[in-house]
Amino acid sequence: MTTGRVRKAIFPAAGLGTRFLPVTKAQPKEMLPLVDKPTIQYGVEEAIASGIEEVIMVTGGGKRAIVDHFDRSLELEHYLRLRGRDDLLEILKQVDVLSDRVRIVYTQQKEPLGLGHAVWTASKLVEGEACAVLLADDVILGDAEPCLKQLIDAHRKTGATVLAVRRFPRSQVGRYGVVVTDGSDGRLHNVTAMVEKPKPGTEPSDLAILGRYVLAPAVFNELERGTPGAGSEIQLTDAIMRTVGTHPVVGLEFEGDYYDTGTVPGYLRANLTLAMRREGLREELTPLLRELLGE
Ligand code: G1P
Repeated sequence: MTTGRVRKAIFPAAGLGTRFLPVTKAQPKEMLPLVDKPTIQYGVEEAIASGIEEVIMVTGGGKRAIVDHFDRSLELEHYLRLRGRDDLLEILKQVDVLSDRVRIVYTQQKEPLGLGHAVWTASKLVEGEACAVLLADDVILGDAEPCLKQLIDAHRKTGATVLAVRRFPRSQVGRYGVVVTDGSDGRLHNVTAMVEKPKPGTEPSDLAILGRYVLAPAVFNELERGTPGAGSEIQLTDAIMRTVGTHPVVGLEFEGDYYDTGTVPGYLRANLTLAMRREGLREELTPLLRELLGE
């Protein structure tokens, strides 16, 4: 089956960021840097590289910094120009270019009622098309094709709702949505059920859902009827689950390096890894790490 292109991507960015308090008290967690770039920018870059034309940011209170980040700062540009800092102007231009290449629209989630509710908030802007969802906490980099592009290709081939999945030891999947599958075609697995954050010992498989989705329109119809699930939140997983049986749902074991920046240890690990991969920083950090490890 072939289907139309996936033109739009929803970025739920209205969460409270409680895992990172106090830094997230007055600052969106999506703006926390990975080295020197906000985590959400990695996601927007991936969406653009995957052919997305419109980004729908679902924001809540206190998220102004995200809007400002993707806007021009004429004042900053003015002073940098006065000081002849073309090098820094170039860095600003790289962010401005992003909003030239994609239309960014903003919508408000008035209450933090869960991921499913955040995605539903954006549904009026989706207009009945298949649509991508990216969770900015999950940063996926590397030399492979952008993760979202891999999902969109799988959606084009199958017409299915496509979830990014990765295998972890069962003891680690409890913080994710976990899928049950009944057959595979290479890296593509046919999903028959899914459970949001299974309790220890009840994990149905070792395939965890990571924060990239291509949702068929049927999922938005189910979100409309959203009722609270795990953690008393309206879960995206539950809405997708309700489409299983009437609409195809597949999990794609994508290629790429995954960084979980949604927890403090994961965030620090991601920063350290990316810093050590950057020329200049690597040389500065190596002696410090050796010292800290007592080598
Ligand atoms: C969300 C989803 C979960 C998914 C995870 C990926 O959970 O509800 O199914 O596995 O993102 O990061 P959250 O991390 O927002 O609690």
